Order: sequence, then C-alpha cells, then structure tokens
Amino acid sequence: MSSSSVSTKNTRIVLNERPKAGPITDTTFRTETVDVPEVKDGEVLVKVVYTSLDPTQRGWINEGRSYLPPVDIGAPMRAGGIGRVLVSKDDSLKAGDLVQGMFSWQEYYVGSAKSMQKKQTPEGGRDVDHLGLFGMTGLTAYVGMFDIGQIKDGDHVVISGAAGAVGLTCTQIALAHPKCKVTVIAGNPEKLEYLKKLGAHNVLNYKDADFKQQFKNVGLIDLYYDNVGGAILDQALSQIAPYARIVACGAISAYNATKPEPIYNYFNVISMKATWKGFIIMDHADRYVDGIKYLAGLQKEGKLEYQYHVTEGLDTCVGTLQDMFAGRNVGKTVVKIARDEDRNSKL
Ligand SMILES: NC(=O)c1ccc[n+]([C@@H]2O[C@H](COP(=O)([O-])OP(=O)(O)OC[C@H]3O[C@@H](n4cnc5c(N)ncnc54)[C@H](OP(=O)(O)O)[C@@H]3O)[C@@H](O)[C@H]2O)c1
Repeated sequence: MSSSSVSTKNTRIVLNERPKAGPITDTTFRTETVDVPEVKDGEVLVKVVYTSLDPTQRGWINEGRSYLPPVDIGAPMRAGGIGRVLVSKDDSLKAGDLVQGMFSWQEYYVGSAKSMQKKQTPEGGRDVDHLGLFGMTGLTAYVGMFDIGQIKDGDHVVISGAAGAVGLTCTQIALAHPKCKVTVIAGNPEKLEYLKKLGAHNVLNYKDADFKQQFKNVGLIDLYYDNVGGAILDQALSQIAPYARIVACGAISAYNATKPEPIYNYFNVISMKATWKGFIIMDHADRYVDGIKYLAGLQKEGKLEYQYHVTEGLDTCVGTLQDMFAGRNVGKTVVKIARDEDRNSKL
C-alpha cells in the first residue's frame, strides 16, 4: 500500500454539546472534515475499518468523575476500533498491519504506535472479533462470569441485557457450565426466542406487565449478572440466595436518566452474606489471553454463537448508538467505516 494513495482529508464525528440528561440528540454530535495530520516519528497513520459502539460511550460524554476523562467538546468521539496501518514511522508496525486501538469515530487516526496493538486474525476468523467476541465485550463476559461472579457448578444464574454483546456471551458461558440453571432477561420476544433456542431455561421480558411475578417465579438466584441496573437489579436483590454473587457490569437503564432508580433491597446483600462487586474490563488485561483461549475453545466446541449488528458508513454511528439504547441490536454493535482491501472479510 503506498502512502501516495492516502487521503489528505479526514471526516470525523466530534462532540458538539454535552447532553444534560436524556438520550443523545441530533445536536449532540457534528460531522467535520479536517486535514489528516502529519505522521511524526514514533507515529502511525491508520485507516479505520470498524468502529465499536458501546453503551459506555453515553457516559464518556458526561461531565464528572468516571474511569476515563470526559470527551472534550470539539474532540472526535472516543471509540474503540480496528484498522489497517497505511503509513508507519515506528519500527514496531508496518504498512498493512491490522491494529486495534481507540481510533474514535473518524476515517483516519494518527497517533503513537504505542497507543495501539497489532492483531492477527486466525485462518477462517473474522477481523471484527477483535472488537467483539475476543475484544472488550467477550472478555467482559469472561472476567465478569469467572473472576467477579465466581460461577459454580449448579448455580442459578440470572443475566439481564441477555441478548446484547456482553449478555449473549454470559448466557452461553453459563449454559456451558455444569448443571447451571440459566434465566435470561431481555426486552423483546424475538430476542427471547433466540435465547431459548440457545438453551436458556427461563426467558423473561422485562417489558411484560407481569414481569415482576414471572421473575419471582424463577426462584432464588446464586449469580446475578447485572447489565442494566434499576428496577430489575432491585428485584434481583430481593431474590438472592445465601452467598450470592452480584456482578455490577453495567447499568444501561440509568445512562440516559436524570436520576437512577432507587435500590430498596440492598440490605439483602448483608443478610444473604452476598458479594456485590463492580469491575472495569480494562483493569483485567492479565486475563485477556486466558479469556480469548476459553472463548475460542467454547466456539470450537459449538457452544458459543456470536452475533454482530453491523451498519455501514461513518454517518450511521449516531443513529446506531441511539438504536442500541432502544434495544434494536442483537449481539455486538459495530459500524463498518471503510472497505479493507487487504482482506476479504466476512462481515
Ligand atoms: N464493566 C465493564 O467493563 C463493561 C464492559 C462492557 C460493557 N459493559 C456494560 O455492559 C452492559 C451491556 O453492554 P453491551 O455492550 O453488551 O450492550 P448491549 O447489551 O449490546 O446493548 C444494550 C442493550 O441494553 C438493553 N437496554 C437498553 N435500555 C434498557 C433499559 N432501560 N433497561 C434494560 N435494558 C435496556 C437493550 O436490549 P433490550 O431489548 O433487552 O432492552 C440493548 O440492546 C452495558 O451496561 C455496558 O455499559 C461494562
């Protein structure tokens, strides 16, 4: 690939204004075209091929303390991605290498070679798996279920947000675990039908009028994998078994809310001697190799189906993020930003 074929212009989506509360709107972001910066020593120019869409991006545009600083107004929207190196001024990478990093919502990324990791996709594999199954979401499910949730044989495992990127993987990890009973919660009948086909023992739609009763009927919970927070978490806490583990992975029900819903049943954590633990996957890099090995093994055994919700074009990023909050995805959401001439990708 010659550097002469590289565009000198970069289209990107930047944060236009910080939403006070509520969903992102048509004025939250704006699109602009700027010059591709000069590549300096130690830096690399990457053509972004896929960008990752994640619920946590909603939090990244809020003011306030979190695990990463807020995206600045006028800065390209932070997002994980995979891409191809077009120009390298660092010995560790060369043109044509596949790389992963925080490339943001844009066509081209220029940054230090140290800010990205070189990736190799196994024969027959999909490059996009570096963002999904073998990326942050797959690994979140692995670390969440094993290290944080301490899944045990025979557990009654309940998973909320079960048809999403993390939840779908958690569901199948639980189903593959000896003698576990698996209850899943999601927001529409098609998703629940799919989860049932995968083998889930109980499927619950949190939008059903009698959801509370249905949830009560599944009985006590040993491991609750919480992707959504709010009223579903509150009810789960009312049903925890002695020594239950509650994995605080996400709270999507609160990301667009002015105020999170109150949690009334927290005292059960004391009386049931439960463990309620939060985590951020980036702190668990030492577990990535084991996690990828485990997930690849499960997939090879035919026990792990992984789904992608893919849209095409940088201009679909904002709408696709809005769709994710409306529950219109099954599995991992990604946007394909560009064709990858170096690879005949299946997605
Ligand atoms: N701790 C970590 O390091 C870490 C890492 C990655 C992700 N996470 C968290 O894990 C959770 C899942 O992330 P993901 O990437 O797998 O997203 P996802 O589940 O693929 O997409 C979000 C899903 O959430 C559901 N949802 C939206 N609003 C909801 C509400 N008010 N109540 C209940 N469900 C709602 C929708 O499905 P329905 O149709 O079922 O409503 C939607 O499809 C998020 O909370 C995310 O922040 C945490």
